[in-house]
Amino acid sequence: MKAEQNELLVRTGPGAAMGELFRRYWLPALLSWELPERDCPPVRVALLSERMIAFRDTEGRLGLIDEFCAHRGVSLYFGRNEECGLRCPYHGWKYDVSGQCVDVPSEPAESGFCGKIKLKSYPLLERGGVIWVYMGPSGEEPPPPEWEFATVPAEQSYTSKRRQECNFLQAMEGGIDSSHVSFLHSGALNTDPLFKGSKGNQYNLSDKKPVFEVVESDGGLYIGARRNAEDGKYYWRITPWVMPCFTMVPPRADHPMHGHFWVPIDDDNCMAWSFDYHPVRALSELEREAMEAGKGVHVRVDGNFRPLQHKDNDYLIDRAAQKAGKTFSGVEGIGMQDASLQESMGPIQDRTKENLVSTDNGIIMARHRLMKAAKELATKGALPAGRDPAHQKIRSVAVVLPAGTPFKEGAGEALRAREGVAQTSV
Ligand code: FES
Ligand SMILES: [Fe+2]
Repeated sequence: MKAEQNELLVRTGPGAAMGELFRRYWLPALLSWELPERDCPPVRVALLSERMIAFRDTEGRLGLIDEFCAHRGVSLYFGRNEECGLRCPYHGWKYDVSGQCVDVPSEPAESGFCGKIKLKSYPLLERGGVIWVYMGPSGEEPPPPEWEFATVPAEQSYTSKRRQECNFLQAMEGGIDSSHVSFLHSGALNTDPLFKGSKGNQYNLSDKKPVFEVVESDGGLYIGARRNAEDGKYYWRITPWVMPCFTMVPPRADHPMHGHFWVPIDDDNCMAWSFDYHPVRALSELEREAMEAGKGVHVRVDGNFRPLQHKDNDYLIDRAAQKAGKTFSGVEGIGMQDASLQESMGPIQDRTKENLVSTDNGIIMARHRLMKAAKELATKGALPAGRDPAHQKIRSVAVVLPAGTPFKEGAGEALRAREGVAQTSV
């Protein structure tokens, strides 16, 4: 890659072409439980290199406003959430959920001064246990998000998030690259309660040279990884990527399905959102406990969503486990196995120095699709794919197909989210 291409892909602050692209979607901003009730403490939100404060007011309305008070720049994180507004604790200026200043106690009300003060704000909506934000041009919001994990009944779904100390793109590329699973996650396939016991794991572990085929979809790509199965048939793991930053892991047996959003916090950090859901049944108590304990794609984090395994403690790498082959890298847990290596690339991977191989085709095509969409938005105002609910109602698939069957045709309807129909899985 050329340095300018890398720059185009990784910069998502205000005014950057990729930043403008991200601002055309509903992005996950908060877990609903972070704002559990009316007048609860406000929460900091950092997204796309902007710093904001979210709160739930006395009427239950959600607000996301500039973090800093218009008076003299105090962080409203320290504010008082009371009587339908957030009040700055320094001199008492108060803002409603739209960012409108509604009280400047030191000024006479008749002066109308506070009417002229308004903080930047963005609309939020709540769906599927997640609070979503739209940070683009006002009035041009896409329809509400329809990802299947967010539309199934609450008992069928579990979502967590963790900070990752690197740019979103190298994190997301891990979600597209399923060739690393046979190596990095090989230990976890047989032991993790949310992965083990699937026939597909054996195909995964016995054929470490998957052949990748990538096809375009309306919202992004389907990345098919083909491994040998019995009788000349092929085991296909099909990963959808939807613009700009959604990936889904192909399922294993009847385990819940899972996937991620990779949302930029700023250019050097991202939030890895991890969801698990089952399309047709409630999660079992054991599954939910495993998710809460940081198994599967989830990770144990502190109160600021920083993983307990992090770069300052070398992710608690266990060299004996690495040597014994208990874990391939010595790091415990699938999510931290990924994060540790992606953070080790530095905050922004220098893609001018990489050497790509055939298993990187999905990554190459996703980069091109993102760059093209960002340029077309910037030059022609063309709205990007992935905003349409039809692009979001998709599924990953794991399936054994006869040789010679193109995977997209072979999987067919299984690639669509269908209410009341279970996932297609091996
Ligand atoms: S800085 Fe917020 S009221 Fe003065
Ligand atoms: Fe991974």
